[in-house]
Amino acid sequence: MTDSTVADLQMSLAGGPGLPQERRLVTAVPGPRSTELFARRGAAVARGVGTTLPVFVDRAGGGVIVDVDGNSLIDLGAGIAVVSVGNAADAVVTRVREQVARFTHTCFMVTPYDGYVQVCEALNRLTPGDHDKRSALFNSGAEAVENAVKIARAHTGRQAVVVFDHAYHGRTNLTMAMTAKNMPYKHSFGPFAPEVYRVPMSYPFRDGPDIDGATAARRAIALIEAQVGAANVACVLIEPIQGEGGFVVPAPGFLPAIAAWSRDVGAVFVADEIQTGFCRTGDWFACDHEGVVPDLVTTAKGIAGGLPLAAVTGRAEIMDAPHVGGLGGTYGGNPVACAAALGAIETMREQVLWSRAREIGALMSDRLTGIADKHEAIGDIRGRGAMMAVEVVKPGGKQPDPVRAGAVSAYCHSQGVVTLTAGTYGNVLRFLPPLAMPDHLLAEAFDVLEQIFKAH
Ligand SMILES: Cc1ncc(COP(=O)(O)O)c(C=O)c1O
Repeated sequence: MTDSTVADLQMSLAGGPGLPQERRLVTAVPGPRSTELFARRGAAVARGVGTTLPVFVDRAGGGVIVDVDGNSLIDLGAGIAVVSVGNAADAVVTRVREQVARFTHTCFMVTPYDGYVQVCEALNRLTPGDHDKRSALFNSGAEAVENAVKIARAHTGRQAVVVFDHAYHGRTNLTMAMTAKNMPYKHSFGPFAPEVYRVPMSYPFRDGPDIDGATAARRAIALIEAQVGAANVACVLIEPIQGEGGFVVPAPGFLPAIAAWSRDVGAVFVADEIQTGFCRTGDWFACDHEGVVPDLVTTAKGIAGGLPLAAVTGRAEIMDAPHVGGLGGTYGGNPVACAAALGAIETMREQVLWSRAREIGALMSDRLTGIADKHEAIGDIRGRGAMMAVEVVKPGGKQPDPVRAGAVSAYCHSQGVVTLTAGTYGNVLRFLPPLAMPDHLLAEAFDVLEQIFKAH
């Protein structure tokens, strides 16, 4: 093959930001090739691994996903808040290519490499607070949460872990115990890890106007003190805006009050920023919004532009509590994933993506308000930055309507718009576009949503 043929081939295979930023439907969704692959999937892949939308992906970039039938779909999911910098973002691809050609793995615990250290330095710099910090890298969000608990227990010598209603922290045994929702995450998978205690979240839409942030914090703290005992609490672990739970944004003052109480009683305050982190909410981290400085922060998803990487970052004296060799794992902080993270962080900084998240948030919020004004089925619009959701209810009240939410989402899919649902009651439509999404595509996606609400 000549050099120019190789270059042509690379061009023709490329996804990334160069893909035409358009919604284009050339077959029904899913099309025939996706349908054929889905049948093969059924025969080869375990049933327990679900599918939101059975289109098979050929390439993706910017704000679109192109499927194997040639349809170009508008992506309002970003792989569940992962490809915030866009799929196959230039800096991620370049750094991954370079790294993969140098070496793919040595295991950081055996022979270290500088990419891991650079990612930890970046995390120590970017996470809230200017105190002395340390980080450790892992493979998945659930693994980061598990390690945050290990670290908090080693530091405090205590066992109890406090989590909240509607929380989602993962699918491993400990994180299943920490996750609130039974179906599909926990059902039939018990027994779960002990010493996990759940208290009420601040949920303004369902709490009503009488329960402000301070009152909701007192409600949670009273339960912890009565049922767990402050002196037994190793950590209080919370999503600053809940993800799978339905983008529940606690009332102002709730997070600062819980953080202050945790510090007063010597418990480690852990912010699970796995879904909210890395510019998604219009700041580097959602805790920045109210100036909350967590003791530990867990991160994953948006950190590495689509490669599997996760981290725990926090106060040096807490992070250094576990004994040497107590933290780690074969692949944690894999060099290729670290290279991707450095590319993703560079992209966020150079393209000022926290600011773009705010613009996207303003646009989505405007459009959703316009739709909600005409449709009583939208009970609440909430979120922050490029993390917005609507709670779908039976008109005239607050009764959850998961059937309508599911129907709207399915219709969006058929029209070439990838949407996700969420929420303890399954009635939340959530919007998490890549921050590389151009305005015209976002507007088109919300035109589709508006038409669907009219028809449903
Ligand atoms: C807030 C939060 N914590 C933890 C997790 C688990 O992350 P992972 O799926 O990478 O294990 C998720 C995933 O959705 C999440 O949103």
